[in-house]
Amino acid sequence: MCSASAIGTESLQYLGGFGNHFATEALPAALPEGRNSPQHCPYGLYAEQLSGTAFTAPRHASRRTWLYRIRPAAVQGALRPLSHPGLVGRFGELPAVADPLRWSAPPLPSEPQDFIDGLLTVGGTGSSDAHTGCAIHWYLANRPMRDRFFYDADGELLIVPQLGRLRVASELGVLEAGPREILLVPRGVRFCVELPDGQARGYVCENFGAPFKLPDLGPIGSNGLANPRDFQTPVAWYEDRDGEMELVAKLGGELWSAPLDHSPLDVVAWHGNHAPCKYDLRRFNAMGSISYDHPDPSIFLVLHSVSDTPGVDSVDFVIFPPRWLLSQDTFRPPWFHRNIASEFMGLIHGAYDAKASGFEPGGASLHNCMIGHGPDAATFERASRADTRVPQQITDTMAFMFETRTLIRPTLRALELPQRQADYTRCWRGLAKRFTPHAAQP
Ligand SMILES: [Fe+2]
Repeated sequence: MCSASAIGTESLQYLGGFGNHFATEALPAALPEGRNSPQHCPYGLYAEQLSGTAFTAPRHASRRTWLYRIRPAAVQGALRPLSHPGLVGRFGELPAVADPLRWSAPPLPSEPQDFIDGLLTVGGTGSSDAHTGCAIHWYLANRPMRDRFFYDADGELLIVPQLGRLRVASELGVLEAGPREILLVPRGVRFCVELPDGQARGYVCENFGAPFKLPDLGPIGSNGLANPRDFQTPVAWYEDRDGEMELVAKLGGELWSAPLDHSPLDVVAWHGNHAPCKYDLRRFNAMGSISYDHPDPSIFLVLHSVSDTPGVDSVDFVIFPPRWLLSQDTFRPPWFHRNIASEFMGLIHGAYDAKASGFEPGGASLHNCMIGHGPDAATFERASRADTRVPQQITDTMAFMFETRTLIRPTLRALELPQRQADYTRCWRGLAKRFTPHAAQP
């Protein structure tokens, strides 16, 4: 068991700010002074750089961290292929599905499985080889990773807990997050996952492209949406532990396993900005209309991975948080729409204001490019009759969306899950013809 499990939640320490250049050390003066790679590092540590962007990336986009560790990451056994029943890493050959899709929440496992065992790929787009697109997974776990560590060379992990807390003990420190919080683990960072509540379920966006960043705010101004100071990065923490252990890697869409004779969580000090963080979605400063109409959902953008085309994101992470609805003479729930983007949605807590039933916490929906969707018939009826002269508060909700510029192809395993709702499209059948050609005001 990782020794991070012995740390009390209240003892975990964080540094505030998104993407800051942090400097932190678990032993005094463990960080070299004035240079990154001295001839002799303090305490006999090894210096190692972990880069998350090209060396020549513009300064504002550059991500890298210097690690000072007991052994360099190169000290490991040979990596061999590791089979996994639920993980899919390539999507181009999967069939596209032109219908709207929805799933109930998948059940927690009946057999013991850790965070890695419990990954179940729903779908994906693009290519990890080409560093474009993303994969979308559920995770279903009921045991901690025991002497097992993971890193993802294919992408950055945006983890969205829905049930149970996750404690991520990483090379760069220990983070803990539960439902309505998120975790970001950068590409390549080694970590293991403990389960403080014994079991956990949630969603993962494995972002193959540019690291997630906060969006520009344009006319909103210098504050609002997700504020940078609310992102929390752990202080340096390490364990000096020898024994038979396993390193699992994901590269090229496949898993690989190598023996280790020590814990890789042996970084005593580090500095840089390629580091994990957490964020409490309840701190999101939601914006909306104070006159009429429902703004585009981009107003709820938390983080995005930008593409090479200005203004067109590779992946958007959007939430639908508790908020007030004030717009008058307006259909207040999300409207009917067909988008060029493809939308994977999940529900973390409560109910989603566009669906009266069927979209449950832990479940998911997928609406690919140009698939018509929107409020179900019951929601349409209710919202059409609502008195919009009075404000409405939505309190018990937290839904989210992974939105991509390219088609999300579902996996065969996801399509065959018993939780897939074969009757999903029935939720719109009750939308009867209301056309009154001889009366503009029915
Ligand atoms: Fe949508």
